[in-house]
Amino acid sequence: MTGHPFQHQFFDRLTAAAGDGSFVRLNLGGPNGRDRSLRNVFVRPVRLRGTVSWSFTYRHATRDITKNLPPDDAVALLRQLVGNEFSDAFLSTTSGTLHLNVRKGRGPRLVPGPVEDAEPPRLDHDRPRQRTMAPREHPWLQDLGVTGPDDRVRAGMEAKYRQIHRFVELMAPLLRDAGLPPGRTPAVLDMGCGKGYLTFALHAHLARALGRPARVTGVEQRSELAEAANRVAAAHGMDGLQFVTGTIGSTVVNAADVVVALQACDTATDDALAKGVEAGARLIVVAPCCHREVAKCMAAPAPLADALRHGILFQREAEFVTDALRAALLEVSGYEAKVFEFISPEHTSKNLMISAVHRGTPSPDALLRAVQLARFYSVTDQRLARLLRIPLASAA
Ligand SMILES: C[S@@+](CC[C@H](N)C(=O)[O-])C[C@H]1O[C@@H](n2cnc3c(N)ncnc32)[C@H](O)[C@@H]1O
Repeated sequence: MTGHPFQHQFFDRLTAAAGDGSFVRLNLGGPNGRDRSLRNVFVRPVRLRGTVSWSFTYRHATRDITKNLPPDDAVALLRQLVGNEFSDAFLSTTSGTLHLNVRKGRGPRLVPGPVEDAEPPRLDHDRPRQRTMAPREHPWLQDLGVTGPDDRVRAGMEAKYRQIHRFVELMAPLLRDAGLPPGRTPAVLDMGCGKGYLTFALHAHLARALGRPARVTGVEQRSELAEAANRVAAAHGMDGLQFVTGTIGSTVVNAADVVVALQACDTATDDALAKGVEAGARLIVVAPCCHREVAKCMAAPAPLADALRHGILFQREAEFVTDALRAALLEVSGYEAKVFEFISPEHTSKNLMISAVHRGTPSPDALLRAVQLARFYSVTDQRLARLLRIPLASAA
């Protein structure tokens, strides 16, 4: 590896983290080497017979190969791999993350990020890290196929397991801020819950936080998923947790304190947001996915027309416009909205989250902002605006 300052900074940080015990993991991605079946390399420190080594997992298309190296050899190998075999190196330490991107024909980029793994790494080989949802205490993880009978995370489910924890970590302060009603059992809806990974996690988190079960309902249009999730909930006696088959739009919401919808497709996110607003939920949290509606009707405004003739830029702009409109419409409806990344882009590009806490008073200029944004992109109609009867085409 040649010596661009960013590459030096990256490896300085890695060796410093290894020295002070804050190194958690390093993932290589963006393969561009000779071995075409090699997709990623995952590196983490482990203790073997009393000595710290770095465990390398080479992820190929159809198999994983693991080898352990002394830390000095490991760093030397990584210096060869980064920039030659892989263009992306993602380092996680207990004080933050660092993403090095070395693409040929372009200068390297170094992007620091927030903490993803706050706990120092457990070095005992093969022993799972103590997590918020330790598999032994949450056997539903096994029935949902996240962990195996040995309580280890199944191959291919690492990202889902991480997402479960990240979701609970994020929800805990949001729930505190939203202030659930004291003295009564809160009602939570997970719209488009799929297999229910996050529904189970939220139910388990609330049971621990409240000291009693909450009423948590997963809504899913695929009946086989809802039925399977109900069987798991019943098998583990999870009071108050249920799954219903139906679409988000047709769900009758009499009362809900919390509404979440994670990666519900396209305008299903708007349906969930509208249900949350109509129910006066204290907290609404969505992670949008596939933004097709606005992309179909949005026009590129003059100053951006040249840039937006590139399909990918147009698509990203449509995502931006959709989610910015959603946040503004929530503010029109008396919510304080925040937009942020909830999981590293290393895992998925669909990593944006919108949280909305009910404050009761609409932000005074939110309607004007929403209308002006829509007008700038010639958007006259959008599902959430329509459901909330907020006229985007009006002269605010
Ligand atoms: C990508 S999965 C996400 C599942 C889950 N929320 C998670 O994050 O693990 C999206 C799920 O939403 C469901 N879905 C999409 N649109 C829906 C709608 N309008 N009503 C009910 N479910 C819907 C799909 O069937 C699918 O199971």
